Amino acid sequence: MTETLFVNIPTIESIKRLGLEKSDSNIAILLDMFTQEELGVDIRREIVSSIGRQKNNDKIYEFLNREAFSNHYMEVIYQMFRTCLYKSKEDARFADLRDRILRHYNNEVMQKMLEYSIFRQQKKMSLKPQRKILKPSLLVGDNRITLNKIQEQQIQLIFTSPPYYNARLYSDYKSYHDYLDSMKDTLKQCYRILENGRFILINVSPVITKRAGREFESIRYPIHFDFHKILCDSGFYFIDEIIWIKPEYSVPNRIAGYLQTKKPLSYKPNCITESIMVYRKNTPFLLDKNIRDYDKNLKNDDEIDSTNCWYIAPKFDKNHPAVFPEELCQKVLKYYSFKGDVVCDPFAGSGTFGKVANTMGRIPLLCEQNLDYAEKLKQRGFDEI
Ligand SMILES: C[S@@+](CC[C@H](N)C(=O)[O-])C[C@H]1O[C@@H](n2cnc3c(N)ncnc32)[C@H](O)[C@@H]1O
Repeated sequence: MTETLFVNIPTIESIKRLGLEKSDSNIAILLDMFTQEELGVDIRREIVSSIGRQKNNDKIYEFLNREAFSNHYMEVIYQMFRTCLYKSKEDARFADLRDRILRHYNNEVMQKMLEYSIFRQQKKMSLKPQRKILKPSLLVGDNRITLNKIQEQQIQLIFTSPPYYNARLYSDYKSYHDYLDSMKDTLKQCYRILENGRFILINVSPVITKRAGREFESIRYPIHFDFHKILCDSGFYFIDEIIWIKPEYSVPNRIAGYLQTKKPLSYKPNCITESIMVYRKNTPFLLDKNIRDYDKNLKNDDEIDSTNCWYIAPKFDKNHPAVFPEELCQKVLKYYSFKGDVVCDPFAGSGTFGKVANTMGRIPLLCEQNLDYAEKLKQRGFDEI
């Protein structure tokens, strides 16, 4: 009877039905189907899935062992790997095959599939850490050290604008390498204190350092490109890049030289954008699990930003040379945290993020090493811990 399900050009539906009914004749049809040439990727993947649903492990193992190392689209190979993950719980041959496939392809998607599957098997054992930070708090000093006071996974969101290498008076690093090493140390702390699966957002943009003399060229540093690497090395993965766009009148004028001469090669456009790099802590589960921790009625009912371009005028402050506009902090808090979350800015400066977080019902934790800025933050109600 099942054979009538099989038509010359198999459809996803017909293949699914063959997979649902476990029988020797169905697995034979599916194995035969797979040998047909010119099948689309989706069809081929569905056939592998339906073969994997069958009971005859000998036949399934023989099939996977032969085909997983043959020339197929990666989507089809992923499905074979998925079958191995599933079957490895009941049959050791599939665990061995799973490891051989992983070694053969050395592929990051498969690595993630394996981590997810291990996590699902152990998840009942993992307990959420109890929250310890209950009011607006401040750590005074170098965040690479002061953050040791914070226990693992206490923070639900990190948003910060680190020093842009030596662009401002408050930063003086021996070299760019030294700067990146220092940032890496802070990011390691960020990884430790951030709850699994939550976001870190870093605001940076390229900078230029002053020329050492007229005979030398100045050096321009694409800081955000290098941050990508140190974020990944620290255990975060890329989610998005949001482009903060400012009005042209508000940025330094770089185009004037070119406008005078109009000489090719001397073109230097006015830079009206900064990056907001959005990364998530490497975690073997989907975001849905993080969202499920909250009341299901909690959602943003106001206007949304539907693109990754946010048009916001910069803010200038007489007390600090590089403050966040409040609107930027509002958007970050709205899209990447829930009310009641503990949110951290490890390079707090004047504490704009902390202030906005407080008004939006989040609990801010700020770090600042400059004693004058720290003093002002204490006066604004951030308790030193
Ligand atoms: C770009 S500013 C941040 C400005 C902030 N977004 C605001 O709205 O005011 C960077 C701040 O980080 C501080 N800082 C630099 N290195 C630090 C470190 N290792 N630990 C703690 N604070 C640091 C600097 O003193 C400076 O105030």
